[in-house]
Amino acid sequence: MKSIGVLTSGGDNPGLNPCIRAVVRTGCYLDVRMMGIRRGYAGLIDGEIDEMDPRSVGGIIGRGGTILGTARCPEFYESKGRKEALRSLNRFGIDGLVVIGGNGSLTGALALWDMDFPTMGIPSTIDNDINGTDISIGVDTALNTILDAIDKIKDTASSHNRAFLIETMGRNSGYLAMASGIAGGAEMVLCPEVATPFEDIVHVVEDAYIRGKSHCIIIVAEGWESGAQALANKLLDRQDEMGFSVRVTQLGHVQRGGSPSAFDRILATRLGAAAVRELLDGNAGHMVGWIKNAITPTPLEEAVAFDKELSPRLMELARIME
Ligand code: F6P
Repeated sequence: MKSIGVLTSGGDNPGLNPCIRAVVRTGCYLDVRMMGIRRGYAGLIDGEIDEMDPRSVGGIIGRGGTILGTARCPEFYESKGRKEALRSLNRFGIDGLVVIGGNGSLTGALALWDMDFPTMGIPSTIDNDINGTDISIGVDTALNTILDAIDKIKDTASSHNRAFLIETMGRNSGYLAMASGIAGGAEMVLCPEVATPFEDIVHVVEDAYIRGKSHCIIIVAEGWESGAQALANKLLDRQDEMGFSVRVTQLGHVQRGGSPSAFDRILATRLGAAAVRELLDGNAGHMVGWIKNAITPTPLEEAVAFDKELSPRLMELARIME
């Protein structure tokens, strides 16, 4: 294999830049011509491709976002789009591809692999919903961003004696909500994986007030029922009874930005380097993940077969800590 392309696709997250850096530098170190593809599969179809060298990825290890840009690309779901992508890869003489991204991006990588193009995936999404890895790139930094917000909201919640609903991202996964709720000492976590009756939520807020707490923090995953704002609208009618008044903070895309944490930089560097080596060793069609503290390849087919389940132990821990 003489030339490898790299692209970032789907929702961005902190850790993409250190990963691109590791892919490019490992490839160059092993005498492979490295090609950067802009704007994910969209840029691949349009031929937005340039050669990269070790210097072109200098100074990016601490930067959030992705220097290659990213996009969600509906055209790639069609067979015409995928054929155009293959044409571009051939035109630029690329004979292997590293795809850094979440479920949709890795499904795209599998589609190319099914068309016999050597492809490797790297799991990268704040949602932490990909099979074949204990943790995806970006999750640790997003969690730290959420914790910073929880700590700040606690300050104002305590000053005003209020209940706060803090909505985290995660699409259909409750991982970010659950993990940040545990680490942030929340009174309650609401996530799509667990059905929670409305009256239980009212009870938690009321109970926190009666026990003399100065605030009540509830973390709500965006995928939980109809989200934090709709819940707040219902709770507002019960404020007098609950004791605390209610406010909502939707953290939104702030969770996807910022300088990657030490953990994310190291994870991204290890997985990026491993992806190139696996491709060169003839193990295309896999995703390199991090399982039990070791780099572990999983067939792309398995990685995207279904969303990773939230650990029952983590859920139990959150319940005990509430
Ligand atoms: O998959 C990452 C993610 O941030 C999800 O948590 C969220 O639901 C979604 O992307 C938001 O997508 P967009 O940036 O396209 O609004």
